[in-house]
Parts: sequence; C-alpha cells; structure tokens
Amino acid sequence: MHRIAIIPGDGIGLEVTREAVRVLERASTVFDLPLELVHWDLGADRFLRDGVTITDEEFSALAEDHDAILLGALGDPRVPDNQHARDILVGLRFRLDLYVNYRPAVLYDPRLSPLRDVKPGGIHLDIFRENTEGVYVNLGGRFKPDTLDEIAVQEDVNTWKGVERIIRAAFEFAHARGRDRVTLVDKANAMPAAGHLWRRAFAEVGKEFPGIQQDAMYVDAMAMDLVRRPERYEVLVTGNLFGDILSDLAAELTGGLGMAPSANLHPGRHALYEPVHGSAPDIAGQNKANPMGAIACAALVLSQLGAPEAGRAVDRAIRDALASGVTTPDLGGDRTTEAVGSWVADALDR
Ligand code: NAD
Ligand code: IPM
Ligand code: MN
Repeated sequence: MHRIAIIPGDGIGLEVTREAVRVLERASTVFDLPLELVHWDLGADRFLRDGVTITDEEFSALAEDHDAILLGALGDPRVPDNQHARDILVGLRFRLDLYVNYRPAVLYDPRLSPLRDVKPGGIHLDIFRENTEGVYVNLGGRFKPDTLDEIAVQEDVNTWKGVERIIRAAFEFAHARGRDRVTLVDKANAMPAAGHLWRRAFAEVGKEFPGIQQDAMYVDAMAMDLVRRPERYEVLVTGNLFGDILSDLAAELTGGLGMAPSANLHPGRHALYEPVHGSAPDIAGQNKANPMGAIACAALVLSQLGAPEAGRAVDRAIRDALASGVTTPDLGGDRTTEAVGSWVADALDR
C-alpha cells in the first residue's frame, strides 16, 4: 500500500487536484496498485480560520508517514503577503530538503505553442531548478521600514553543497535519459561571486560526464533564445529564482501554465509534486482551469511508486485528450476542468 498526502490548497488548486485524484484512483483500480490518499486541509481557509499555517507535527507527518505528496497551489488574495504559501510550500521544500525542482516542458502538439514554425517534438526542455537556496532563503531584512530612507536587503545564498548537488542531479538525469546537452543558466557577468561558484561546480561535475555537451549561458540571453530557437536546448540547470522564471516561460512555449507539472525531490527520500501554476484567483471556482499539469503530476507519482506503465498510460491519455480536442478554454476548448479530468480517467479503461 502506498500512502499519498493530498494538499489541494487554494483557488484552482482545489479544482485541478480533484481531477488528479480522480485519475490516481482510476489508475489504482486499472493497474491494481493499492493507494491510500490522505487529504490535508492546509491553505488560506485553515490559516484564516485557525491563525496557523502549518505545524511542526504536520511537517513531520508529511515527511515520515507518506510515500509522496501531491499539492495543488497556494496563494489567496485574502492573505495579501502570502505568508501561508511561503510557510507551507517553501517550508516543505526547505524542511524536507527537496533540493531538486524538476520542471519538464514538452510540446505535445505544435498548435499548442505561441511560436510560429515549431515542429512536433520541437521543444523538450528539462529544467533543474535549485530549490533550497538563492534569494528564497529570505536572509536579510528591512531597515527603517515604511520611511523614505527604507533599505531592503534580500541576500542570495549559494553554497558549494547546494550548487554541486543540483548540478549533479541534472547531469545524472541527462546521462540516464540519454540527453546530449546540459546548459548552466546564470548571471555570472553581474553576479560574479555566485557565478564563479556555479561555474566551478559545473566544470567539476561535468568532468564526470565527458559524453555530454556542456555550456553556460546568461539568463537574459537564455530567456531570449528560448523564444527564438527552443529546440536547441535540452537540460537546463539553474538557481532558484531564474528557474522559477524560466519554467513559466518554458510552460507558455508548450501550451501554457495549465500544462506543466513539477517534482520537488530529495532523491531517495522525499517527493512533492505540484503543477507549475499558482492558484489563479482570476479563474478560480469557475470549473475552467486546465487540470492537465496536475494530472501529469499524477503520472509522475505513479512512476515514482513503481508503476511506470501506469504513468505512461496517464501521459498517453493526456495526449489523446489533446488530439481529440478535449480541452479547457486556455487551450481553445470548451470543456470544463471536471470534463477533462473524467475523460482522461475514462481513457485509462479503454
Ligand atoms: P498563476 O499561475 O496562478 O496564474 C497566472 C495566469 O495563468 C492567470 O491568468 C491564470 O488564470 C493562468 N493559469 C494558471 N494556471 C492555469 C490553469 N491550470 N488553467 C488555465 N489558466 C491557468 O500565477 P499568479 O497569478 O502570479 O499567482 C496567483 C497566486 O498563486 C499567488 O498568490 C501566487 O503567489 C500563487 N502561486 C502559487 C504557486 C504554487 O503553489 N506552486 C505557484 C505560482 C503562484
Ligand atoms: C512556484 C511558485 C512559488 C515559487 C511561489 C508561490 C513562492 O511561483 O512554485 O513556481 O516562487 O517557487
Ligand atoms: Mn513560479
């Protein structure tokens, strides 16, 4: 029996997670894979009700008593500074030391891309975002707050240990999946201290993978080139903030935020899966959010739990839904969130 924690969270997180759960439950039956799904009430409602974001006991239980965590999204206009999202989501990443944020972006159909002349299979990016350091550590502070003399310091933390392990994860992935190229993305021209450490670690780890093409690019040029000729790139490895930004860009190139899954991993220890998108307050509660990114997370969960054939079947069902025009309005379709989720679940029976 595999036990999975389900944290729907806020906004469309609730809607897309419902569909990912529907698909997981169906896959569990079709592939005879016993699953126990445990629902967790963590998010803005709980915070506004109890004044608590997440407790130490909850962190421990999520870490120790579950084989994986599936999360929808966190963020709510009623919590303007989004403290609960930082405590829960960034909190889980840091406290479970989920140092790999793996964000694949694959173009299933050229019609999904806003780019002209892109070929089928023309975009296949595997982004490895460092997930426990950078500016996200929130070191620093405010001096003379709310005055005209205010100073805000937000430190960017880069440790050898943290940088080396994400670069290693990217190379090991490329090696295992037969990918030919790993590109480091940084801003070494403007931030030379961090840049030097990243480039030294990249060169050192890269020596162990002589068969893989290796190069480095500045993040501004990469943002440009991902729009100009995304088919050139394969595996990207980068820091926390640049990875956050580039993964939204990569998602948009391949059909939009609604399509993109992600895995927050401490390999061999803990895994938290979530779509790349947020809680989308602008469309929440309307049954029109695209659940495919969340469902693609369910596929990643199934693969992790030792049922790769179930994971592949879910991926195939997503592609079939796209090919059959079973899509939400963001992709030009007229189906509801629930209709897309049900169609994908039913496809597993066929
Ligand atoms: P967002 O990803 O929620 O939305 C950006 C745009 O994309 C919106 O127009 C939205 O309607 C659209 N969109 C997103 N997901 C979609 C889907 N599945 N189907 C169709 N359209 C979709 O980003 P935002 O507006 O910057 O953030 C909203 C809230 O979510 C904020 O509180 C933010 O902090 C939070 N957030 C949370 C996560 C997370 O939990 N992992 C990620 C990003 C943002
Ligand atoms: C993401 C989100 C988060 C991040 C926010 C909600 C803190 O944008 O998962 O991409 O910046 O990592
Ligand atoms: Mn983001």
